[in-house]
Amino acid sequence: MPKNNENMMSVKGLTKVFKSGVFKPQYTVAVKDVSFDIKPGTILSLIGESGSGKTTIGKLILKLLKPTAGQIYYKNKDVAQINDKKEVKEYYKKVQGIFQDPFATFNPLYRVDRIFEIIFSSFGYDQTNKEERIHKVLNDVNLNPGRILGKFPHQLSGGQLQRLLIARALLMDVDVLIADELISMLDASTRIGVLNLLVDLCKENGMSVLFITHDLNLGYYISDYTLIMYKGRLVEKGDTKKVYQNPIHPYTKMLFNSVPDIGRRWDKEEEFLPEQVVDDVRKFYATNQGRGIEEIEEEHSVLFSLK
Ligand SMILES: Nc1ncnc2c1ncn2[C@@H]1O[C@H](COP(=O)(O)OP(=O)(O)OP(=O)(O)O)[C@@H](O)[C@H]1O
Ligand SMILES: [Mg+2]
Repeated sequence: MPKNNENMMSVKGLTKVFKSGVFKPQYTVAVKDVSFDIKPGTILSLIGESGSGKTTIGKLILKLLKPTAGQIYYKNKDVAQINDKKEVKEYYKKVQGIFQDPFATFNPLYRVDRIFEIIFSSFGYDQTNKEERIHKVLNDVNLNPGRILGKFPHQLSGGQLQRLLIARALLMDVDVLIADELISMLDASTRIGVLNLLVDLCKENGMSVLFITHDLNLGYYISDYTLIMYKGRLVEKGDTKKVYQNPIHPYTKMLFNSVPDIGRRWDKEEEFLPEQVVDDVRKFYATNQGRGIEEIEEEHSVLFSLK
């Protein structure tokens, strides 16, 4: 059951501009004026073309990047104000990420048993039944403790490492998990198991997941809320059923029209943005000038124009 009805996390007007090049600086607006709430025990999927700013949002939430503007609140506390070493540690105890490359997350010199030991020692957990608890979370994610605990990260597959990260999140009882392309490394047979596990955990423990994906069908299957990104902006958001059944923004419409097959994944190399869409979006904004973001029905908002 969710812990309470307040927002676990709230993102307000989040903006990130990257500056690159020293002499002739170039600016990339990766994320622009993004706002959404994460309620306890819910799964949100963040969907959008490659380069639309999804990973950047995940990194901003995890304090791996600093916002150019806007705020992120975790249980009503401004995350930008969390700077004290002890507080940051406390934050990372509760807000964690699983990124596209799980290999980078673990110290390659530590065996899995050591990695779990470190969680207990460095985050100051109660040591009682430690071994039993570790075995339980590994079993929960379908990893065989006997086989996994003595191994080094490079001896595990990408999918096993991702499940290990979920096990770690479970052990630490995290509040918010940022799962960036989580299942891309899992084979079809483990995929459904891991997804069902995530759903169950959310419902049972009140954990929330920001599920970053390219897969619309997966998003539909797994998430309570859907966030659609286009060129750094959230163009449509709300209750998953409502957004999927009644898409309004031209980009969302295009997405749903272009993915007819169940389980089809976007090919990153593929051109997603036919001229037509860019043109449709421009016209849509022009026709709706001054409207900005509007709630068109309960739990369903659309960006009608850039104001
Ligand atoms: N450190 C950086 N410096 C400069 N530009 C960056 C940096 N990180 C990301 N960007 C740019 O910001 C934009 C958003 O990138 P981001 O990685 O958030 O996209 P994404 O939606 O996660 O894409 P994908 O689906 O391919 O993972 C892109 O144009 C990217 O090139
Ligand atoms: Mg990404």
